[in-house]
Parts: sequence; structure tokens; C-alpha cells
Amino acid sequence: MAEHSEAPGRLAAIIADPGSAPHDSSVTHVTGKSEYVDDRPMVKGELHCGLVYSPYAHARVRRLDIAPALAVPGVVCAVTAADVAHNAWGTIFQDQPIIAAAEVNFVGEVVAVVAAETKEALAKGLTEVVVEWEKLPAIRTVAEAVAAKSFIGSERTIATGDAVAALARSPHRVAGTLEIGGADHFYLESQAAVVYPREDGQLEVHSSTQHPTETQHVVAEACGVRFSDVVCIAKRLGGGFGGKESQAAPIAAYAALVAKQTGRAARLVLSKDDDMIITGKRNPFRIEYQCGFDADGRIIALDAMLHADGGAYADLSTAIMERAMLHCDNAYFIPNMRVRGQVCRTNFHPHTAFRGFGGPKGVALIESVIEDIARVVDRDALDVRVLNCYGPGQDMTPYGQRVEDNHLPELFATLTERCAYRARRAEIAAWNADRARNPDGHSRGLSLTAVKFGISFTTRFLNQGNALVNLHRDGTVQVSTGAVEMGQGVNARIAAIVAEQFGLPTGSVRIMPTSTEKNANTSPTAASTGTDINGAAALQACETICARLSALAIRLRSIPPESWAKKTAGLGTMPEIAVGSGVSPRGTDEQRVEFRNGVVTVTDRSGSVFTVGFAELVREAYLNRISVSEYAHYSIPDLGFDKLTGKGRAFLYFTQGVAASEVELDRDTGEVKVRRVDILMDMGRPVNHALDMGQVMGGFVQGMGWLTTEHLVYDGNGKLLSHSPSTYKIPSVQDTPRVFNADLIFNHGNSVNVRGSKASGEPPLLLSISVWTAVRDAIMSARSSDASVSSGQHAQLVPLAIPATAERVLRGLSPQMFAAWDARDMQVANGGQQ
Ligand code: MTE
Ligand code: HPA
Repeated sequence: MAEHSEAPGRLAAIIADPGSAPHDSSVTHVTGKSEYVDDRPMVKGELHCGLVYSPYAHARVRRLDIAPALAVPGVVCAVTAADVAHNAWGTIFQDQPIIAAAEVNFVGEVVAVVAAETKEALAKGLTEVVVEWEKLPAIRTVAEAVAAKSFIGSERTIATGDAVAALARSPHRVAGTLEIGGADHFYLESQAAVVYPREDGQLEVHSSTQHPTETQHVVAEACGVRFSDVVCIAKRLGGGFGGKESQAAPIAAYAALVAKQTGRAARLVLSKDDDMIITGKRNPFRIEYQCGFDADGRIIALDAMLHADGGAYADLSTAIMERAMLHCDNAYFIPNMRVRGQVCRTNFHPHTAFRGFGGPKGVALIESVIEDIARVVDRDALDVRVLNCYGPGQDMTPYGQRVEDNHLPELFATLTERCAYRARRAEIAAWNADRARNPDGHSRGLSLTAVKFGISFTTRFLNQGNALVNLHRDGTVQVSTGAVEMGQGVNARIAAIVAEQFGLPTGSVRIMPTSTEKNANTSPTAASTGTDINGAAALQACETICARLSALAIRLRSIPPESWAKKTAGLGTMPEIAVGSGVSPRGTDEQRVEFRNGVVTVTDRSGSVFTVGFAELVREAYLNRISVSEYAHYSIPDLGFDKLTGKGRAFLYFTQGVAASEVELDRDTGEVKVRRVDILMDMGRPVNHALDMGQVMGGFVQGMGWLTTEHLVYDGNGKLLSHSPSTYKIPSVQDTPRVFNADLIFNHGNSVNVRGSKASGEPPLLLSISVWTAVRDAIMSARSSDASVSSGQHAQLVPLAIPATAERVLRGLSPQMFAAWDARDMQVANGGQQ
């Protein structure tokens, strides 16, 4: 098109450099041409679907009558539990009905799906479904679940040394309870699916899912058809963040059930409000802990009991708990540790994966414990961190995996210098105390925390990927893998890996929509492993093709061009090239083959050179009946974490980083301003530097939301009240750090992963914990300088729940005032006089 005629020219230089190629959707995103599920044109006869769900956290369904809905003109069908062939799903345990029958266990649990020809008829039909509920008692807190022994899975332990004995002999101890709230994924594209019934009972599912294979399976089981009768396609997601790892599957099943019953295409796209009410969140956690340490602040022992609110069904919560337990050490060597974890079953939406999985909860624990230790031993928290940091002689994790390729000490040292940590600490203390410069008595805080995020699924079998690479005769490439593009740039990274291998510009490589007919038995795009497993599989396929092309190029060198297949009507003159001909992707010892800039060069020992264009070589291969397509499977090697003993190699490697955050608290409103953030990370040798930086900054800001403003508020019935942007406060551009510096170190040592890269999807989120610890630092500084509370005693260790909302900040700053108000409220609630 005319308006874009210059784009290829302007972008050519960037595209030619695979290290900074733009996101493959950048142009279509900004021109509004990117296609999402709900952008698919409506086809003839297509139905709109909607959900009838429980308004109660726990209730019996006394009567469900769909007849009045079916009587509404335009309503075509209503599906209930009776229509579901196999009415149970779940990624780990199949404990959740697709459509509830006799009992509901959370607000938002679906009891019927209505389908209509127009949105208006659907809206009317949904209100006409009659349900008589009998409200039952609900479990709404972790404490209630523990008291009722309402659990999912059994209690797990990860331990090293003897934490109980070591705690007893520790000269100093801190203990406390950390309350961690959940968070909504707030992807911009709600859960969505369109299902087309195809011939002979087949179903074509277009789903906004991070896990096409699971969606395929859940749809097939719900509809009572074979896996091979269902194809699930995910072109791109308008954000997933973990929320579409498991929970996209039942949404697709609802549309599929309608499509199967009516023989018509069916579309289900949740409104933002329904999406927030129905779908699970980041699991809330309650952690009770004790930590023992010496007078320098060296950790001797950590004993922690983690309880997660799993919601009504298992979903991914037990795996989330496992990752939380595996991250309680974070960047620090803990010689004696006992971490126990138990998921609780409550009457909330089933909580689920969210960027970082359990990791952020474990890391928040140890980072706040370190701040406490620093206050007790009267040292700067950074010194306590550096003292305990993994390094030579203290490099064994509590689960028995050595921390290899460890850059944490270097990251701490470099960022401390770069962000002028020491000078700013002194300046902040002076500013806090100086009423001339700080007339409103605001309080500033600074904290530098770390992340060491384990990369691999902790469930071993998920660590596999597959890829299909097709070369075309114009020298372009199509790649299909199990990876789902949800904004993170996995397509651009895989394209860069493939382009580099063939010596082509990234623009020559197209990543095709993820589809279960090309890539089956795939893992979810999750655990930050999208590029690692799918990119590695694509690379393997490319190498096989390169080996064939190299063998052909070596042959062609000795054949006059007039005898090539292109001149002989494809008959060819050479014996066929067998796969496994002893030629590597880079040729032989005698004849080195190089793929670069669209040209294939063969150089022999004497230095004499033969070249052939890449596209020409592909054409010649085709005419000689040599395959220019390849499918490959990759599995991450050497993983050996034993879930029963809690020991073993859980991760292929660790992505590491540090961040320093400076905040300012308004003492009148509790508002938190993030004044400055400095981040330094080790991403190995990035495949795409620009995309990694996007992940670093985006992940950090998303984490800030969880830690500061994103407060999920439920009513007494367990219904989410904060179910829209007006009541649920994600960070806006105004909330981003006023000064935001992010950088990567150069680490060429991560040879275990594809192209020497390290995953960037989740780890940066955990660095935003520095904002929360900085808020706590500011509160504690204000409290200890406050004459009315310090009175010469030890600085108080102020608990601060996550998220540190304005109200919680004010409570932290002015506990007596709130204690008086709370007492008054209690008196009023009890019917007393004010
Ligand atoms: N970035 C964007 N823009 N959108 C997303 O939905 N999801 C995050 C992260 N970055 C997400 C994102 C999560 S939760 C994960 S696990 C990784 O991307 C998954 O992609 P990857 O494995 O390719 O890094
Ligand atoms: N993140 C981390 N670990 C995981 C995930 C995830 O989304 N899914 C399964 N294991």
C-alpha cells in the first residue's frame, strides 16, 4: 500500500540485524491490522455465546431451567452439564467441572452456556435462564481453610541442614507473617474462542490460549470426540501473562459445545467484567517465617510455612507452590532451610499461573527478611545481601542444585556503583530529616534487591518443544512451533535464530500461527521457556536442512551449471544426496560451507571459493528431490528434580538480575511515587536485545502494580468488586518510574541454552519487589525518626502486606491513629456508642 511503501526501505537496516529486529507484529499492531480471535469475520449462521454463572461462592443448584431462555426469539441453544461428554478438566488434577451441575464452588462458576443469533437476543436469553440457589457456607480465607483442613494436594517440604536446631542456636532471630495478595492478569484481549464445525464431526478451534494442545484436549473431551478431530489454532494473544495457560481451555470448550450441538460456528468473547469475575488470579499467599542469623547478618537458618489460596479447584496451584518453595533462597545461600508448602482450597475462582508463577512469593519473603536482618544488626541491607549472596564456597541451593554461571556478585557490585547507591542512601537520610527541603515530611526509601529465577518447567515432561521448518523456492522460510506469541516477541526471536542459521534477513522468515495439526503434544508457552524450547527445536531443524544444502552445494561445485537440474528439466545429473551423507551443516573438513547474506559459499582447503545464491540452492535441492523441510523435537537435557525428595537439578540455568528502587511516600495520602529505578540483568547473549529490554521494563512495571496498587476487593459473598479498570488500579504511564535505567551485562557463558541466550519473560517482574522493600524502608525510616514511637528502642520491624496500597502505607506510617479508628469502628459494629 502506498502509505507503507517506504517501510521496507526504512526498516531494512534494522531488519538486516537479527540482534535488534522489530517485533514481527509491530507494523500490523500500530496500523490496527493485527488479527485477534474476535477480529475473525462472522461467518454465515455464526452464534454469539454467553455464560450463566454463580453469584455465590458456594451454593447448591436446586433448579436450573433453560426453557424460558430458549423461548427468547433469536436464542438457538443453551448448554448445561448434561450436554458435556466428559465433565472434568484440570491441568494437574482433573477436579474441575467444565459446567457445574449440582453445586457451585465460586462466584463465576459456569452453570449454562447460551447461544443466540444476535448479541441482543443473547443478553435477553442470559437473563431468562432460571436458577434456584441454596446458599452454603463458604471458605474465604487461608486461615479458615487451614482450620477446616480444606487442602489441595498434600504438604510439601524442601529442606537442607537442620533448620530447627540451627534456629535455636542462632544469636539473632526475626519472625513474622507475610500476607501477599493476588493480582489480575489484565490482558487487553479477554478470554476468547471461535469454533467452526467442520465435516465429519471435526472442530476447528481458534483460541486465545497459551496452551493450544491442552485446549485441543479439553475441547475434545468435553465434546466427546477424538483428539485427532480437533485442531486448535492460536495466531496471537493480546496478552496472556499466565492467565491463558490453563483457563483458556474451558472457554474454548463452551464455544465448541455450542458448535457441536448446533452445527453452527460459535463465538465466545468475555467482557472485561465477566473475565475478571470468572477467571482466577495470582494466588494469594500467607507465609509464616523465622530466620536466624549472626551479628554480621549472615543467615544461619530459615524456617517458613507457605500457604497459598488455591481457590476452588487445583488448576496450577500445586506447581505454583513448588516454584515458590524453590525460590525462597533467591540470590542467597541458606545453609539450613526448611520450607513447607500447602495449597488451600477456598471458595474463590481457581487461582492460576501469573508471570513468575510462585517465584515472586518466595523472593518477596527472603528479600523482606533481609531488610529485617539489616535493621536488627544495624547494617545497610545491601551489605547483608552481598554477605549472603551465592558465590564461591557458598553456591549450593537448598534443593541440591549448584548455582553455575553465577553473575550475582558482579551484578550487585556493578549496579551499586552505577546507581550511586551509597551516596544516594546518605542523601535520602539527609533529605528525610531536613524539613527545609522536605516541608511536608514525606519519606523516601531505597532498596536494592536481586533475582535468580530458575528457567525450566519444574514438571520435567513439559521441557520439550517441536518445530517444523519449510523452505520455499524463492528463498523464504515458514516456521511453525508450539510457541504462542502474546506480545513477548517469541516469534521475532525464533525468526532471528532461523534467519541467522540460514544467513538470511529476518524479513525472509515468517512464523506461522501456532496450530496443533503442525505441532502436536506441545507445552504451554510459559515458564519463560518459549524461545528456549521452540527456538532450539527450530534450530535443530535448520541444521538438518543446512547439512543437506551444504552437501548439495559441495556437489554443485564440481558440476558445470549447464548440467544443473534447472537446465535439465529437473532430471538432474547427479546421484541423489542421501541424508546423513557425512556433511555437517557447515560442510566438511575439506570444504567449509557458510550461509551468509543470502549466499552460500563453499571454501576448500586451498582457499578457492564457490558461491551459489540461497534461493537458487533451495530450487536446485527441490529439483533434485532433496527435502527442504524438516521437523525437529528438542528436550532440555540433564533435568533431575525429584518432587518427592525436593532435591535435584530443577533448572537448566538461572536468569539473574538486580534492581535499585527509590520511592517517596506522601504521609498525608499514602501515595507512593517511584522516583528512580536502575536495573541490571544477565540475559546471557540476547537473541533480540530490544525485545529483552521491553520484557525487562514491562515486566518490572507489571510487578509494581501487584506490589503497590492492584487490590482485589471481594464482597461478603465472595464476588470480586474490583472487576474493571475503574476499580482495579494497574500502573498507568504516570506511575512508571520518573527515572528508569535498565541495562544488560554481556555474558557469553550460558552455553547450555539456545544461542547462549537466557529467558527474559518472567524474571524482571521479580525485581519490582525492590519497590515494595523500598516502601517498607521508607516507612521504617519514618517510624524510627518519629519521636513518639522510637523512644530509644530498636527500630520497629513494620509488617507491610502486598500490595502496599495507599491505605496500608498510611497504616504503616501512623499505626496509633489507625488503631484508634479501628477500635472505634469495632465499637460501632458491636452496637456501642462512639
Ligand atoms: N509479555 C507480553 N507482552 N505479554 C505477555 O502475555 N507473558 C509473560 C512474558 N512476557 C507476556 C509477556 C509470561 S507470564 C511468560 S511465562 C512469558 O512471557 C512467556 O513467553 P516466553 O516464554 O516466550 O518468554
Ligand atoms: N511460569 C513458571 N513456571 C511454570 C509456569 C509458568 O507460567 N507454568 C508451569 N510452570
